[in-house]
Amino acid sequence: MSGDLLFVNARQVVTCAGPGRARRGEEMNDAAIRDSVAVHVRDDTIVGVDRETELRAALPDATLIDCERGVLMPGFVDSHTHAVFGRARYDEQELRASGVPYMEIARRGGGIHASVRDLRARGEDELFALATPRLAALAASGVTTVEVKSGYGLSLDDELKTLRVIRRLASTLPMRIVPTWLGAHEIPLEYRDRTGGRREYVERLIHEMLPAVAAERLARFADVFCEPGVFTVDESRAILTASREAGLGIKLHADELSAGGGAELAAMLGATSADHLAAISEAGIAALAAAGTVATLLPATLLFLGKRDHAPARRMIDAGVGVAIATDFNPGTSPTTNFPLVLTLGVSQLRLSVAEAVVAATVNGAGALGLADRVGQLAPGFSADLALWAIDDVRELPYWLGTGRCRASWTRGKPCHPRDLGLAFPR
Ligand code: NIG
Ligand code: FE
Repeated sequence: MSGDLLFVNARQVVTCAGPGRARRGEEMNDAAIRDSVAVHVRDDTIVGVDRETELRAALPDATLIDCERGVLMPGFVDSHTHAVFGRARYDEQELRASGVPYMEIARRGGGIHASVRDLRARGEDELFALATPRLAALAASGVTTVEVKSGYGLSLDDELKTLRVIRRLASTLPMRIVPTWLGAHEIPLEYRDRTGGRREYVERLIHEMLPAVAAERLARFADVFCEPGVFTVDESRAILTASREAGLGIKLHADELSAGGGAELAAMLGATSADHLAAISEAGIAALAAAGTVATLLPATLLFLGKRDHAPARRMIDAGVGVAIATDFNPGTSPTTNFPLVLTLGVSQLRLSVAEAVVAATVNGAGALGLADRVGQLAPGFSADLALWAIDDVRELPYWLGTGRCRASWTRGKPCHPRDLGLAFPR
């Protein structure tokens, strides 16, 4: 039997083919949609996208995968999640609705601190069992690559525990999983209210946690929540500079709630991505454009927090910033695994065109993970990461509000949709 797969009978093939790097400006507006073509996959790689009649004739022994007149696309790259956590935090939602701000809940010891208390009390097996169906739900919404951050441990043992869970998920599930160390997600309570505690925690991050994470090769990126009340720009710079020296790539939660120079810092350090950016300044936009740092926008978070001011995606694209979109899946501010909903918000709130939203969710998501030369496109040499949608036109993706219609997906040429794996969904 030949190892060739031929994806045939698609109404549209959205290839996103083009340069193997994050797209900027006008480039984002081209998703390279084709019809009457088939996709040829051998093992884990895309060999070509060519006229179906010709490919069928040239490859009579290939295994045919019938797309049943649906839309075939690159799998989504969810480049920002906090998917390893314990219990849900529904108790905070009504509090916020009654007027208590997100940061005030954290000051009272809730928010991220609540997830930290909870995660510390759970073992690796339990966290793995909780995360598996959540990632399966992401896979069911067309995601084939997902970044997962630590950051609810905030101690050496609990951060390493989280990262080991992520490593185990990566070796068990067919999705591509990119691990990020976010030991600087919050100042833990045991340090926060003590004189010199902040300083001590930052020292521990740099001199204790980071070396351990790097030695075990548990993370590809380091990230910091840079925001007034959490980590300052100076603290973030120190943590990320050390992380870069230890061989990790750099990401930054920046300018989420207020413009504090986070985007400028990300640009200055040559970060792979700066994320959130709802409050980014004009100087921050210019800095990201000049540095080529991808701006990862997370509109579901703002929707969930009830905020109206979304990140200025149009101004970013006009300034030449490569924009990505992601779920930010986490228990506090974005409890959703619905990637098509993020596309809907990309169009309705960020005012992206459908092509821009699709590129932001594929090629530029890969760019936000340093993978744009091999992930995010249906083009020769790229990883065979595909999602098949039971729709007639790619414009239906953001249109069917809240209902994904992903029928099947493949990562590295292997089935990755939970329906094909017998995996349960979260309950
Ligand atoms: O990306 N902003 C910081 N971190 C998460 C929220 C984490 C939480 O509330 O648990 C975010 O929104
Ligand atoms: Fe986040």
